[in-house]
Amino acid sequence: MSRVVVVVGASSGIGRATARAFAERGDRLVLAARATTTLAEVRAECADVDVLTVPTDATEPNALDDLAEAALDRFGQIDVWVHTAAVMAYGRFDELPERVFDQVVRTDLLGAAGSVRVALRHFRVAGAGTVILTGSVLGHITAPYMSAYVTSKWGLQGLARTVQQELRDSPEIRLCLVNPGSVDTPVYQQAANYLGRFGRPPVPVASPQRVARAIVDCVDRPRREVSVGRLNVLLRAGFTVLPGVYDVLVGPLMRAAGLSGRSVAAHDGSVFAPNPVGEAVRGGHLPDLRQLVFGPVGAVGAALRRRLG
Ligand SMILES: NC(=O)c1ccc[n+]([C@@H]2O[C@H](COP(=O)([O-])OP(=O)(O)OC[C@H]3O[C@@H](n4cnc5c(N)ncnc54)[C@H](OP(=O)(O)O)[C@@H]3O)[C@@H](O)[C@H]2O)c1
Repeated sequence: MSRVVVVVGASSGIGRATARAFAERGDRLVLAARATTTLAEVRAECADVDVLTVPTDATEPNALDDLAEAALDRFGQIDVWVHTAAVMAYGRFDELPERVFDQVVRTDLLGAAGSVRVALRHFRVAGAGTVILTGSVLGHITAPYMSAYVTSKWGLQGLARTVQQELRDSPEIRLCLVNPGSVDTPVYQQAANYLGRFGRPPVPVASPQRVARAIVDCVDRPRREVSVGRLNVLLRAGFTVLPGVYDVLVGPLMRAAGLSGRSVAAHDGSVFAPNPVGEAVRGGHLPDLRQLVFGPVGAVGAALRRRLG
């Protein structure tokens, strides 16, 4: 029997890849995000299964309750609730407008908390169910110019752990936190920017499909926390064991690897309103990186071939 899976943040990146991955398994889907047009595209991508799309702003009062009600009206049950909705903002803390900081936290932390609350209310009555949240390696470490996002992800880490402790007497109800490192999604281009330079994912960059597989896997093999990213353990170890060294290195590393050289005028990105044209599964960072690595190798090879005749 197929499951009913709610995905909040299904119009882009990891959430969109997750919707497709559940669809491939034959699960029925309830897809939510703010952008109505993109949700319709995702429904078409998952055409082999029964899909309900519900335009939802997770920061609006009662929006997540309405989403659950729409899911129950259509399918009569909810088995899995995935929350991937998030926005990002670049800027020094004292230069980031307060309204932008607050809306990022409202979306990334309070929106996720709202999802957990609504899902648990239903799962307590049903006696079973799985909530899956997307945290980040930035819920264990910090990086400059991303204060609102980092604050949200640390908060999410605390929330997830607390709820997991509260669920110990209900083994059929699970909460899993999936913590990716860098992932190739549009979130970096969609971010608000008060820094003057575009953000980008520092290497190594995972594909959104890889994170989606980890999310789907949590339903069959629920775990407290799943890390996706080859450097996550190393970064956490450096942050914890050598905080002084970490703090010296993280600024220069962030400027070199986490920001591009392209300048950008201050803007709010998709923080307050969706930007459907920027939504896709991938962010286009992986091909760029391949080009970065193989471009010089190819150029050297071509020069050698020319020289050797
Ligand atoms: N990409 C990475 O490198 C990375 C790394 C670690 C963790 N993560 C986490 O992975 C999750 C997914 O991120 P992503 O990279 O896939 O981002 P993304 O491609 O920008 O997708 C974000 C999704 O959230 C939705 N959303 C934003 N604000 C919303 C709101 N108020 N209400 C409902 N939906 C909203 C967006 O749709 P609308 O704008 O249409 O609403 C979109 O579907 C996030 O929790 C992120 O923090 C990402």
